[in-house]
This record gives sequence, C-alpha cells and structure tokens, in this order.
Amino acid sequence: MSNIESILTENRVFEVSDEIKKTFSVSEEKLAEMRAKAAEDHVGFWSDLAREKLSWSKPFTVGLDDSKAPHYKWFTDGELNVSYNCIDRHLQDKSDKTAIIFEGDRGDIERYTYKELHDQVCRFANTLTAQGVEKGDRVIIYMPMIPQAVIAMQACARIGAIHSVVFGGFSAEALRDRIVDAGAKMVITTNGSRRGGKTIPLKHAVDTALEKGCEQVKKVIVYRRTDDEVEMQEGRDIDWLEAEAGMSNYHDPVAVDSEHPLFLLYTSGSTGKPKGVQHSSGGYLLNAHVTNEWMFDLNDNDVFWCTADVGWITGHSYVAYGPLSVGATMVMFEGVPTYPDAGRFWQVCQDHGVTVFYTAPTAIRALMKFGADLPKQYDLEKLRLLGTVGEPINPEAWMWYHDVIGQGRCPIIDTWWQTETGAHMIAPFPVTPLKPGSCTQPLPGIDAVILDEEGNELIGNEGGLLAIKQPWPSMIRNVWGDEERYRNTYFPLEGKPYYVVGDSAHRDADGYFWILGRVDDVLNVSGHRLGTMEIESALVSHAKVAEAAVVGRPHDVKGEAVAAFVVLNVDLPEGDERDALVQELRNWVSQEIGPIAKPDDIRFGTNLPKTRSGKIMRRLLRAIAKGEEITQDTSTLEDPTILDQFQKK
Ligand code: WT7
Repeated sequence: MSNIESILTENRVFEVSDEIKKTFSVSEEKLAEMRAKAAEDHVGFWSDLAREKLSWSKPFTVGLDDSKAPHYKWFTDGELNVSYNCIDRHLQDKSDKTAIIFEGDRGDIERYTYKELHDQVCRFANTLTAQGVEKGDRVIIYMPMIPQAVIAMQACARIGAIHSVVFGGFSAEALRDRIVDAGAKMVITTNGSRRGGKTIPLKHAVDTALEKGCEQVKKVIVYRRTDDEVEMQEGRDIDWLEAEAGMSNYHDPVAVDSEHPLFLLYTSGSTGKPKGVQHSSGGYLLNAHVTNEWMFDLNDNDVFWCTADVGWITGHSYVAYGPLSVGATMVMFEGVPTYPDAGRFWQVCQDHGVTVFYTAPTAIRALMKFGADLPKQYDLEKLRLLGTVGEPINPEAWMWYHDVIGQGRCPIIDTWWQTETGAHMIAPFPVTPLKPGSCTQPLPGIDAVILDEEGNELIGNEGGLLAIKQPWPSMIRNVWGDEERYRNTYFPLEGKPYYVVGDSAHRDADGYFWILGRVDDVLNVSGHRLGTMEIESALVSHAKVAEAAVVGRPHDVKGEAVAAFVVLNVDLPEGDERDALVQELRNWVSQEIGPIAKPDDIRFGTNLPKTRSGKIMRRLLRAIAKGEEITQDTSTLEDPTILDQFQKK
C-alpha cells in the first residue's frame, strides 16, 4: 500500500493519560483560549506575543504593515538584536546553565554554558568586525555540525551581518552559486569534518568555489576541526583561533530593525536555480521562539536534541536560534545515526538524558530496519516528547517511533512547515489527540486553508492545494534579489492574499490536515528538497548528455528516490562501459550539486517521451520509474517505441 493510501485509511487516535497531560505547560483550555484570541485579532495575537516573548531595544508600535502586500512587514518600527535575545538576556539567571552539549563523531564531548557561549560569540563577533564585516554584509557559513557553526551564526546576528549557511554536503559548484547569488564578502569554514569515522575535507571545496566568479570574497576564516593539513592562501585565509586571539569577551550587540534580514537560506524550487529565502529578525525569532515552547514544551529541566544539520532551516529554528531564545539546553551531534552502529542516536539520548527528541521520518525508517532490540538496550526513560519533520510520516514508522522509542508515553509531534515558513505551521501541541500520519491542526495564528485548482477555498473535507491565508511573522520576506520571483512563486493567485505552499493536502472531518506531497517539480529525498530541473541541468551540462528528465519514485527509506531518463549525444555503450557511464553521470551530479542529488536509477533512450507539441510526458516517466505497467493513454506520444527503450533497465 502506498503511503498516501495508508494515511488516507488511517483512523486510529492516540491520546496520553490525563496525568501526563497535566505535565505539559499548555493545557487544552489554554490552547483553546489562544485559538480564540488569534481568530478574533490576528495581528493583536502575534503582537502581544512579540512583546511578551522577545526583548526589544526599541519597542514597536506597528504590528503588521501590509501596505506593500504581498511583501509583508511585522513589528516594523521596533529594534532588537537576535543574539542578545538568544544569549545575553539569559545571563541574569541562567549564566551557568548548559546551553550546548556537543557530542562529536568519535564520542568527544564539550559543554558550553550560556556564559561561555556568550564569551565565544562576542569574541567571534569582534573578530568578524576586525576582519571588515559590517552590518548588512553577507557571510557564507560552510561548516559541519559543531558548536562553532552556531557561534558563527550568532556572531553574524550580533553584528547585523546576514549569514547564509550552505550545507556541508553541497559541492563546490553549488557553494559557488550561492556565494555569487548572495554577493558574500566572507566564507567561514573548517579544514574538514568528521562523519561516520572518516574525515571529510571541506576547505578544498571552498578553494574550488572561489577559483572563479567570487572576487568579492576577501576573507576565508578556517576553523581546524580535524588534524588534516589545510592549504591556506596568503592574505585571504585566516585561522579562526589566530584571528580570535586577543579579542574581547565583550561585544555590544548591534540593534537592528525588526525587518533587517537575519539570514538567507537557499532552497530548491521548480526552476533550475535555487532561491535565497530571505528571513527577517523580529518576526522570524518570534515564531522560532514560540514553537520551541508550544510544540516541544521546553522547560528548565529539558534536554532538547534536534538532529538536523544547521545547513537546513530545521537547524536554524530548532538548533541555532529557537532553543537558545527560550533558554533551553540542547544537544548538538556531529556524526551519523549508524556509526559506530545503528544504536548511536539512542546512546546519545541515553548519555545526555535527552527529554525531547526531533528527527526525520527517513531516519526513523532507516533505524527501524535494525529492529526493536537495539533501542531497548538503552535507557530512554527520560524521553517525553518525540518530533518529526521533513515529509509525511507513514503510519508504520509513526507506530514504531511511538511504541518502541516513546514506549507509548511520548506524543509524536509531527510538524509541517517549510524553509519559507521559518517555523512550524501545522503541528500538534503535546496535549493534542494524535492520528498517525497527520500533522493535526494549524497553530493559533496560522490560517491554513485548502484551495481548488482555481483558487477557491474548499470548506468540506476535500483534498486540494494547501495555502496560508493571512501573513504570519516568520514568513519569507523575499527571494534574495528577486521580488518578482517571490510574488510569482508564493502568491500566484492574482489579487488574492494566499501564500501557496506547493503541497497538496486533505482535511478530515475533525479538521485534521494530512499532507499528501508536493504538487510542483520538487522532490523530497530523505526530507531534503531537490528540484528536478536542477538535477536535469546538472545532467545536461555533461558532455555526453543531450537531454534529461528527472522524476521521483517511491523509496522505502528515503521516501523518494531520484530517477533520471537520459538521451545521449554519443552512441549508447554496452556492458561494463555502460555501467561505467552510469557511474560517471552519478558522480557528475554529485560534483555539480552534492551526493544527495545523485540519481538512484539512470535509464537511456534515443529520445524522451514527448507529446507532438514537444512536452515531456512526466507522468509516463513516473510510471516507468515505479516499474508500473503503462495503462495510460499513449496515443498523444510522438514516438511510442521510446517507452520500450526506457523500460529496459
Ligand atoms: C517541504 C518543505 C521544514 C523543514 C524541513 C523541510 C515537506 C516538511 C512535513 C511534514 C509532511 C512535510 C513538505 C514541505 N514536509 N515537513 N511534517 N509532513 N510533509 O523543509 O526543505 O523547505 O521542505 O517538506 O512537502 O513543503 P523544506
């Protein structure tokens, strides 16, 4: 049964005991009150929270400015500093509280109190200033999951520089595209990273990226994470520790406008070029803050662990900013779930007394394969909430997570959101009754609706396009440098205020949302967004490729796998040579984008299946990729014999 079929026939409901419910900060009554208040006064609801939850150096008087809709602004005349909110304001009563517990790939452990984090961030903020970085400058952070990545992000926020974190798994080519698009002045990196017992070079990719087209990058700061030698370019490259020597532990945080961009984060869309999602300071931090309180109920005794890399939005809102803003203790982990063995996640949970754990369905499915005995070897008694994000979770994985990891006691917090939304949008509170596979209901102040193809709101329990009707504080502000793309992508319904998500969804009779998947040419591979056009352009840039079409096919661990259909401009080789070519093309995509985009299958044909008007028939390719019998009408196909060629693996 496909995931969609299985979630649409799911009707179990899970609730924790009243006893457990009482332990959560937000009760059912309080939640109902919040919903009522938000429904009555949308802007007032968010404005009150912004005053209550954040520290403003200059209070705001304007809640929402929609005079240039759909370019919305929140808390516009207010000023604040995000790093101050994440660190300094906790120093009064939490100075010795642990902010970060770091566990390295090899089991090495480091702890930072809020005071220590403050001093480190200040020293690095002073370093950035000394190296010529100013408010509004863009800084690329290309680092592994180590505390220095968070320190670098916080230091940028402290001086008002706009960071753009590029996932360490992206290639030099992908890194260069982002450096150029952001117009970055500096790159912060490490000599290498440690993952799964290996050391992986990183700085090398920066050197390659900077070889051409990035003249505006004047400095590269290199943190030495591994013992490996690193080539340093005289005058450009600086050692982190050397640059930081003698810097003060004090830095006066720079107050910025609420709307000042905090960061850019590149994500894939339906065209070949990734877009720089631009987030604000005040509005972004507000939703990152409240969702860490609401969904994860983070209190003084909690130890929170979000397994996401800081290269993704989850690592921004639930590692680098949100947990710190609420003053929580969090775990940061450098390694992989299967090293030294598939019990690693559970060992980390046990050793650090993790109480709230947040990961992706793909990780759960991968670990499920190793059976229930492995997690049982660890003490997971402290866990009280379990979160998931990135793709619809299939009920089988939900049940395993719930029964084996949560021992039936921990609510599963299935959080639907996107890079563009900044924080959770549709998700349960810990007290919410749960249905496996549903992200339940929109948060208070989030007005989620379902539209038909023409953009009419559907009010019954029908399926359609998911959209958000009213602006919310942490929404995307712009596609960096491209306002038109922002409007066309997210507000395609002329004259209507809907932010159109790109997912289809179904709402059931209880008002619960079930996300069915993307409706655009975007794949979700292991919870990572990949544009089919991006992979297609990578393939056709190879000398032997004339044309390529990429589709997704179901995969039991990754959710979706990449299937590529390729037309060569040379004769198709046979036997070993053909296998070698497949390998060459896979490596090519890895080099152009990154290993996550490597096609799982590559099939060859003399042409792509096209209609007589030249449109590629992707639904046919999807059927072939799945290994399905072609039952669809192929009469509009220009050359039906193409299908036979592609069906041969
Ligand atoms: C897309 C956004 C949000 C951080 C990670 C991914 C899918 C995300 C869920 C969920 C069903 C989900 C959607 C969405 N998605 N979370 N809980 N249930 N689908 O961020 O790379 O911006 O991708 O991921 O399709 O549009 P992203």
